[in-house]
Amino acid sequence: MGSTESLGVGIIGLGVVGGGIIDILNDRRDYFKSVRGIDLTVQKIAVRDVSKPRSAGVSSDLLTQNARDVIDHPDVQIVIEVMGGLDPAREYVLAALESGKDVVTANKALLAEHGDELFEAASTHNAGLAFEASVCGGIPIVRSIAQGLPANHVTSLFGILNGTTNYILTKMTDEGGNYADILKQAQDLGYAEADPTMDVDGTDAVQKLSILCRLAFGHSIPYRKMLCEGIEQVSPIDIVFARDLGYTIKLLGIAKPQSGGLEARVHPALVPTDTLLANIKNEFNAIEIVGNAAGPQVYTGKGAGASPTASAVVSDLLYQAELRIAGRQRINRQLVDVEAAEPLATEDIETSYYCRFTVQDTPGVLAHIANIFATHNISIARVIQEDRSETEGGSVPLIMTTHDAREKSMSAAREEIDALDVVTEASQIIRIERLND
Ligand SMILES: NC(=O)c1ccc[n+]([C@@H]2O[C@H](COP(=O)([O-])OP(=O)(O)OC[C@H]3O[C@@H](n4cnc5c(N)ncnc54)[C@H](OP(=O)(O)O)[C@@H]3O)[C@@H](O)[C@H]2O)c1
Repeated sequence: MGSTESLGVGIIGLGVVGGGIIDILNDRRDYFKSVRGIDLTVQKIAVRDVSKPRSAGVSSDLLTQNARDVIDHPDVQIVIEVMGGLDPAREYVLAALESGKDVVTANKALLAEHGDELFEAASTHNAGLAFEASVCGGIPIVRSIAQGLPANHVTSLFGILNGTTNYILTKMTDEGGNYADILKQAQDLGYAEADPTMDVDGTDAVQKLSILCRLAFGHSIPYRKMLCEGIEQVSPIDIVFARDLGYTIKLLGIAKPQSGGLEARVHPALVPTDTLLANIKNEFNAIEIVGNAAGPQVYTGKGAGASPTASAVVSDLLYQAELRIAGRQRINRQLVDVEAAEPLATEDIETSYYCRFTVQDTPGVLAHIANIFATHNISIARVIQEDRSETEGGSVPLIMTTHDAREKSMSAAREEIDALDVVTEASQIIRIERLND
């Protein structure tokens, strides 16, 4: 057996993810020692309340309510931040980096909000800042892009980046039922938070997408500037019509370089039912990435939960430990040397669309709508006209899909169509993504 190097680890936060990290370290410590030659010892753990009962694997001597006890501990070389939130997490991460300690974090909100500052601080102080767990939990997507695809220009990235919304859309698709009832079910089963806002409105996914844009495209784009729509407006009727047309509705994160800038957006989208992404179900996440050299690749797995997330944290921990022991630079320059950018303007996006109009059941309506599309240069691909309304002059859905059109044209056409007397409800428009066909 070769020599073993010892490194001290400090942890801030001992909740769902922190508990998972302790379990994995207890399970794998001997293996890391004997096979990887690294002995990782937890020296201190900060929590909000030391009096809370903790799992058997944690000695109470290790606990403190003062995060500085972790950061300033002389035997801690690597700090794991799994407390979440922006403040004081930002302050703690900065303090650790400024004292030359490596940081491993699972905190996507922190990186999406303060990534520029934190990666810069890591670079200045020659410290590591690793964040595998912040994007898609247990899927090693950060490592795959950073270490696996540096030879490539990434030409597109499509991701199912949020497990809660994928669970809800899967149940709506496979079992029927409306959004509100299935959200309640997901909360009862622990797949959705008591306050699910950040998941269902797309914020969680767009924060992850902004981290992926830094990594895959070298762009620092504030996530608030990206187009972000959630799944709240997806109705069972759209899921059924989408299926009739050969599509499944998913909440997608999309990033693609275009001549006018990087397209970066999160919204529900119709994807062809026979694609891999359409068949990623329940709480699973997936990312389809195309490199110009490697071609298309799909990564899938569990995007959250104690063990998958802790698996990603511990893999970062071991990797940072190996870099430290080898005396190598611990921050990947690719994360620091990024270009501050704006996403491509929403009005310049070009894609095809699914449209559901609710119209009076009277002659000539279809021609009227087709005419408005024609004046905006939007060409219709398919039309589904429902059976006649049971009441004379009642409302019926009229479904159309379009060929590729500019978002600007679609918005203008929609406004005109919604103003027609024969249109009885606001129209539903969902973008269609053919992925990498
Ligand atoms: N849960 C997941 O599946 C998942 C997946 C991917 C990423 N993440 C990310 O991982 C991070 C942690 O998530 P989690 O689910 O483990 O959260 P959690 O269960 O709420 O745990 C948070 C922990 O942080 C501690 N804490 C809070 N404020 C503190 C403070 N000021 N000083 C010291 N400790 C403090 C809490 O202490 P007490 O125990 O005393 O309350 C608790 O142990 C978040 O950034 C989250 O976005 C989570």
